[in-house]
Amino acid sequence: MTKSIAVAGKGGTGKSTIAALLISRLVHKGMNPVLAVDADPDCNLGTLLGIEPEQTIGDLREDLLKTIKEFPAGMTKANYIESGLHQIIEEREGWDLVTMGKGEGASCYCYINSLIRKFCDDLTPSYRWVVIDNEAGLEHLSRRTTTNIDALIVVVSESPLSFSCAAKIKDIVSEMNGRITNTFVVSSMVNKNRLDEVHKRIDELGMDFLTDIPKEEEIEDLVFNSLPISSLKSKAVLSAIDRIIEKIGGNNENT
Ligand SMILES: Nc1ncnc2c1ncn2[C@@H]1O[C@H](COP(=O)(O)OP(=O)(O)OP(=O)(O)O)[C@@H](O)[C@H]1O
Ligand SMILES: [Mg+2]
Repeated sequence: MTKSIAVAGKGGTGKSTIAALLISRLVHKGMNPVLAVDADPDCNLGTLLGIEPEQTIGDLREDLLKTIKEFPAGMTKANYIESGLHQIIEEREGWDLVTMGKGEGASCYCYINSLIRKFCDDLTPSYRWVVIDNEAGLEHLSRRTTTNIDALIVVVSESPLSFSCAAKIKDIVSEMNGRITNTFVVSSMVNKNRLDEVHKRIDELGMDFLTDIPKEEEIEDLVFNSLPISSLKSKAVLSAIDRIIEKIGGNNENT
């Protein structure tokens, strides 16, 4: 069974960094194949993983709209999207990346969007883990996929706004009728002397706390030098990431 993790939360809390670390750690532990999904229109998951994706699903959707009238006989929209998707997927040792790109736009694209969703959902079962990096907020997550999410990681920081965002996400999750099985809160980049208060605030949200991802200068250095996040050595950060993997289903190595 595929395990799926989605990372959400307020802008700038560390979502993409955590998603990229989860992916590189899963691959490192041999818990592959992993599908990395960059669902943020800003597209920086690839960069963190050391890839500059050439094409996004948003580009494919636009191409399709432009070329729809000139389709060769026998070519259906479904064929076109399927072959386009295969080209978009960046394949690496143990993991693949798919970049969503620009949003879905007007509702008249609905048929195309539903085809894209179907192909994305059909991809999922061939992976052991799917890790989705989301844009800030969560509204799109309820629209974009028809499959369920095993664990939603909601990232909070020292910013009180990140807690308001987490509270909103909690409401959206409850409106999604069980499509998200578990929701956990992870703190990111919080100063040690504020951790107790942050844990108290998480408790007040009525959400399950999972772990703290410490602020780590080595991450800033890697980003500054455009090095992939997989080169991170920090034990403190890596063991926090491993805690997330264990909690969500580290025991699925043999399934
Ligand atoms: N644990 C950490 N220690 C130090 N710096 C970090 C850590 N996590 C993230 N950062 C830095 O904080 C900034 C924001 O991180 P990131 O891009 O992962 O956040 P995000 O929530 O995905 O942002 P956005 O909402 O813009 O997509 C980046 O410069 C990143 O390098
Ligand atoms: Mg991000």
